[in-house]
Amino acid sequence: MSTRVSIEDVTRIYNQGKPNEVRPVDRVSVRIGGPGEGASDGGDGQTGKDVGEIAVLKGPSGSGKTTLLALIGCMIRPTSGRILVNGRDVAKLPERFLTEVRRDTFGFVFQQLHLISGLSVLENVMLPLYPLEIGFREGRERALGLIEQLGLTHRRRFRVEALSGGERQRVAIARALINRPGAILADEPTAHLDAGLSCELMGILGELRGQGKSIVIATHDPLVYDSPMIDRVFTMRDGRIMDDDR
Ligand SMILES: Nc1ncnc2c1ncn2[C@@H]1O[C@H](COP(=O)(O)OP(=O)(O)OP(=O)(O)O)[C@@H](O)[C@H]1O
Ligand SMILES: [Mg+2]
Repeated sequence: MSTRVSIEDVTRIYNQGKPNEVRPVDRVSVRIGGPGEGASDGGDGQTGKDVGEIAVLKGPSGSGKTTLLALIGCMIRPTSGRILVNGRDVAKLPERFLTEVRRDTFGFVFQQLHLISGLSVLENVMLPLYPLEIGFREGRERALGLIEQLGLTHRRRFRVEALSGGERQRVAIARALINRPGAILADEPTAHLDAGLSCELMGILGELRGQGKSIVIATHDPLVYDSPMIDRVFTMRDGRIMDDDR
């Protein structure tokens, strides 16, 4: 199910009141996925329509892309402002509930992929399932399905350190999908890929959009933000969103 996130006048401050105070995100309002708050969806976040979207956060190094992505994904809390995930205000949710929202709503693909060496492809993809709320067998089937979808079936028993860069990237995507999130958040996903693999990655993300996922990519790679797959581009500078190009 497609996910929508509304960031409303959100600021994140580090070292508040000190000489080294920074505001990597400064009074940002942005909506990701779905038709927004005006839609009558009964307040449960289910819009009925499964239309995915790919949005890009671009901008120079230090402009706040990773911080905004972390705010969208409920990995950090705003200093001020509201964050609505499928209509629910999460900014002040207790940590336990925030963890639940994060796990059930978002799949993350980090720049450093954070795959666990020594574990196989299958084991890495299954990791976010723990602690297991579904049976092991069901989890394994689900993981194998994703591994197949991403063309890695022949590599499923390989340790991740034995894979190529592109294969590792696909393992990271499969792992991000294992909890069936409505949104995928990817930070510089093409940083370690050549042009061919970057295009392949965009193809995969395009397919996920077709399945109704909301995708947000932080990047300064033109191969990503100029891709025809992209629905919207937000340009960040000094913690602010400059414009909504598309
Ligand atoms: N935990 C933190 N403590 C202090 N400052 C931080 C913290 N996280 C981020 N910043 C600062 O906020 C600013 C924005 O950082 P952020 O990582 O969001 O930028 P970015 O646009 O993702 O940059 P890049 O393209 O280099 O990845 C930077 O100046 C950074 O040093
Ligand atoms: Mg960054």
